[in-house]
Amino acid sequence: MRHFTSVYDLPNLPEAIKSALELKSNPYGFQHLGKNKTMVLIFFNSSLRTRLSTQKAAMNLGMNTMVLNVNQDGWRMESELGVVMDGDKPEHLREAIPVIGRYCDIIGVRAFANLEDKQDDYTEKILNQFIDFAGVPVVSMEAATRHPLQSFADLITIEEHKTKPSPKVVLTWAPHPKALPQAVPNSFVEWMRQTNYELVVTHPKGYELDPQFMGDVNVEYDQDKAFEGADFIYAKNWSSYTDYGEILSKDRAWTVTPQKMAVTNNAKFMHCLPVRRNMIVSDEVLDSSASIVVDEAENRVYSAQTILKMILEG
Ligand code: CP
Repeated sequence: MRHFTSVYDLPNLPEAIKSALELKSNPYGFQHLGKNKTMVLIFFNSSLRTRLSTQKAAMNLGMNTMVLNVNQDGWRMESELGVVMDGDKPEHLREAIPVIGRYCDIIGVRAFANLEDKQDDYTEKILNQFIDFAGVPVVSMEAATRHPLQSFADLITIEEHKTKPSPKVVLTWAPHPKALPQAVPNSFVEWMRQTNYELVVTHPKGYELDPQFMGDVNVEYDQDKAFEGADFIYAKNWSSYTDYGEILSKDRAWTVTPQKMAVTNNAKFMHCLPVRRNMIVSDEVLDSSASIVVDEAENRVYSAQTILKMILEG
């Protein structure tokens, strides 16, 4: 594997899940792979889990890591090609990316959707410049349209907790005060579609995801109906794809509560974190034994470690 930006970069998903679970039981067994190798992690946006879990994954494999918070520690970066750089951005990605590539063996990059220009976001303008100009493998640590390390960790977590071969997994929209990208739900759907799980997506009208991610996945606009018999509830907010980046609803009737969970099959509750308590999910659900959000976050180490191991093995 040269770069990792989506599930389609994995040669074999069941093998990748197996590898992740093996790494979880023996995290330091491949330290020789990363000896004298360096990973640079570039953040255009904030992070807790991705930063720490990916660094931990690299260190577990014996790698050195360096972190750059663009816009805070580094020069502000221009990403448009062909512009006159007379504004407040003194450095262009066109030079910065190959320079970073000369300092390391793998680059991890986080560059969210700006939610202003659908075309810019959905063509992955920043991630693709890294792939084009880095000269070393690039790992997406959440791009404009996908969050593959998160989705891989989600899948590992479901595999660990499922009690039947084909669990019912429900992705539910939930309210949030700010406009958020569609990367996590897009990616979650994309990865779940590679399994034999029963996947249902529920959201208010107007929050339909990009058809390229949804394919023929079942959408149920009635959240209560969608939750019936579910084994896993995965909650997430996202802004509208069709009215691009807009907040169409903050309806708290969509918050995941014990009453909503009552019609499930004792479902486990999942969220990628950070989560807004009593907006996305009530305290009662998040603090209950049904919540596996911390297990999910722990598995971010092993999703990242599996990917880095595959890249190091060449
Ligand atoms: N889930 C996730 O990516 O968390 P961070 O934004 O804290 O990295």
